[in-house]
Amino acid sequence: MRTYRARILSFENPSSPAEYRYMSVDDEGRIVGLSRGKPAITGELVDYSEYLILPGFIDAHIHLPQLHKRAMVSDSLLEWLERYIFPAEMEFSDADFARKVAREFFSTLIRNGTTTAVVYSSPHRGATEVAFEEAMKSGMRTVIGQVLMDMNGPEELLTTPERAASDIRAVASRWHGFDGRLFYAVTPRFAVSCSMELMRTASEVADRMGLYVQTHLSEQMGEIEEVRKLFPWAKSYTDVYHEAGLLGERTVVGHAIHLSDRERAILARTGTKVAHCPSSNFFLHSGVMDLRAHERLGLTVALGSDVGAGPFLSMLEVLRDAYYANAMSPAKAFHLLTMGGARALGMEDRIGSLEVGKEADFVVINPEPLAEAGEDVEVLLSRLMILGDERNVAATYVRGRELWAQHQNERKG
Ligand code: GUN
Ligand code: ZN
Repeated sequence: MRTYRARILSFENPSSPAEYRYMSVDDEGRIVGLSRGKPAITGELVDYSEYLILPGFIDAHIHLPQLHKRAMVSDSLLEWLERYIFPAEMEFSDADFARKVAREFFSTLIRNGTTTAVVYSSPHRGATEVAFEEAMKSGMRTVIGQVLMDMNGPEELLTTPERAASDIRAVASRWHGFDGRLFYAVTPRFAVSCSMELMRTASEVADRMGLYVQTHLSEQMGEIEEVRKLFPWAKSYTDVYHEAGLLGERTVVGHAIHLSDRERAILARTGTKVAHCPSSNFFLHSGVMDLRAHERLGLTVALGSDVGAGPFLSMLEVLRDAYYANAMSPAKAFHLLTMGGARALGMEDRIGSLEVGKEADFVVINPEPLAEAGEDVEVLLSRLMILGDERNVAATYVRGRELWAQHQNERKG
């Protein structure tokens, strides 16, 4: 057992954070005590008095093969994909290269305080297996899926419904649920690059195996126009996925910007979750997602970096853009980042906040030079939300295990 002493904040309530001084974590990595005064039993005391402890950050939408393709300015989403992203993803046919990037990807996420990430791999089964192996070694919590496309892309990246089904079965049967930490997401890229048959097959396999599903929805006008041409019978973009059977409790759709209330109602009725990717939406000029409209209809919203269209791996930097997109209190922004992410994955009973009984996924934050640890909580969170980045992350823990700490690096260096 270990007890951490710090300014400990948790965001289960979107309007005011809970605050503690001590958090005790047992040897299985479960939170067994939180207190404002002295704890009853401490075990080993870890003193982070000058620091904050926050729940681990959850990135609900990120592309592993796009790590090195950030900040490639382009006229539109479809042009950006063709010019930069499809060629970048082709390189992942080389498993050694895929492993090198995957290793760097997970270690960078951890250094940024991300404890759970929902990841798009490339369209290759080999690279996806490698991504799972590296995620396992990293100690992070991850949901990963092989990107599926069978039209409107370079031949090397295309699959068939049959091959997609057998790839998913092979990889998911090995990894889905591994150590209660790794999960598989069936990942049709978006309706522009998937036939109805591929999407139906993907959703059947996901249902049968109890897998997550992730895809992109209504990100840009040109994309939406393309979907209208490809699926003229559909009432809307959302309707295409609904007809394919892809929507449901375990489905996370990225972006979801240009939606009618009718489409929002379909997402809400099916229990589909939204990954809001504000940094990416600003970068590609996709538009501003209307958070209030989503919440009015009862949608669960999480936050995603959407690296590489999003330039920032740090979810603190994504928080700043979330605030610019939709005015909100810092407590609400941190609530979306932590509880929103946990709810989007149906993991709110295990992660997303610091509460007794939950698994101890947390980030140690050095608030300096932005503020002092003893500062008023509103000021502290406001500074972190607008000015925070990787430099403020002092250590990252998943299930009570330290995956990375700044002081370790200093010792090594
Ligand atoms: N839509 C389809 N594929 C992608 C992708 O890789 N990134 C983004 N931002 N949108 C997409
Ligand atoms: Zn994306």
